[in-house]
Amino acid sequence: MSGPFKLSERAQSLKPSATVAVTSRALELQRQGLDVISMSVGEPDFDTPPHVKAAAIQAIEQGKTKYTAVSGIPELREAISEKFRRENGLHHAPDSVTVTSGGKQALFNAFFALLDAGDEVLIPAPYWVSYPEMVALTGAVPVSVPTSPDTGFMLDIDLLASKITPRTRMIVLNSPSNPTGAVFPPDTLRAVAELAQQHNLVIVTDEIYEHLVYDAEQVSIGTYAPEHTLTINGASKAYAMTGWRIGYAGGPKHVIAAMNALQSQSTSNASSISQYAALAALVQHEETTKFIEMAKAAYRERRGVMVQGLNALGLPTPTPHGAFYVMANTDRIHENELEAARIILDEARVAVVPGTDFAAPHQVRLSYATSMENIQEVLRRLGQLVK
Ligand SMILES: Cc1ncc(COP(=O)(O)O)c(C=O)c1O
Repeated sequence: MSGPFKLSERAQSLKPSATVAVTSRALELQRQGLDVISMSVGEPDFDTPPHVKAAAIQAIEQGKTKYTAVSGIPELREAISEKFRRENGLHHAPDSVTVTSGGKQALFNAFFALLDAGDEVLIPAPYWVSYPEMVALTGAVPVSVPTSPDTGFMLDIDLLASKITPRTRMIVLNSPSNPTGAVFPPDTLRAVAELAQQHNLVIVTDEIYEHLVYDAEQVSIGTYAPEHTLTINGASKAYAMTGWRIGYAGGPKHVIAAMNALQSQSTSNASSISQYAALAALVQHEETTKFIEMAKAAYRERRGVMVQGLNALGLPTPTPHGAFYVMANTDRIHENELEAARIILDEARVAVVPGTDFAAPHQVRLSYATSMENIQEVLRRLGQLVK
């Protein structure tokens, strides 16, 4: 487009999302008063726990409403450092920890602090769409490492190793995974850690779904290769705090310092009020653990109903071991997943996310972070559709 507002090449390089079309259509149908059930959201349906809300209210009343240090209030960095030690066996002093506006900003800062144009970044696929988009924004090159529903989306280490070139700089891991729900076992993580050590690579591990693991062992890869790992996490998924926008990272001090420098010139600190809320979630961890156990039990039950129901309808769906998503094969509805998602929306009034954007052909993602009533009704509607 000509005129003064020609968009930057960087802005133009952002890939248009195939998902947006389906999401806009779902909103349009809802506006028309039609009863659309959304299975596309990526956030817990539970309310933020009361002790977390109370801490935020207290912060407001006590006037803790001003700028904080860019890297976050010292008490929160201390609590995150302690959390890393207690829950993950990781050792990051408070000055090796930074607080961000959501896990998303931690990832963004990390990629911009570490990547140069032409660097290659290995990303297991299906992946969360933001990884390749953010990596590409830095000028680096995202390289997919495919995984298959036939193996429950497990990472093939030989395949991963075969993608390493002299330009490879980083491996991005997300276990438990959005969208597949796969949880990489300790042996796999150990093998990835060894590859990183052999080839001098950085591992960026996004552990935001770490607490939502059902029948698998969750291990932080940073315990195997501490010198190579930057660990990203956040309050959104575990503590039902998506709207509060608190994420964090722990890693080598100079990397954290570079991330802080980037953040100081963009958004400064994460919301002070949200930081006090996250502090309560971490410090009052017994109450928080009760909340997580409650949510996890509900997700586990819903997962069982979803996986069983979808497979019974002829929509093959592997059992995910973590997070709150399932990936269903929709060939029975349409061989193109984007078309399948459209049909599911138009005819069954169920909003799902086509796998197109996250390199998952023939599949759609359904979130089970919704009520059992909704899940039952979705299965009923899909049942009518496939009949
Ligand atoms: C895999 C993954 N990482 C990170 C995030 C970012 O979450 P937030 O920015 O809310 O912390 C999400 C949210 O959907 C996610 O699915």
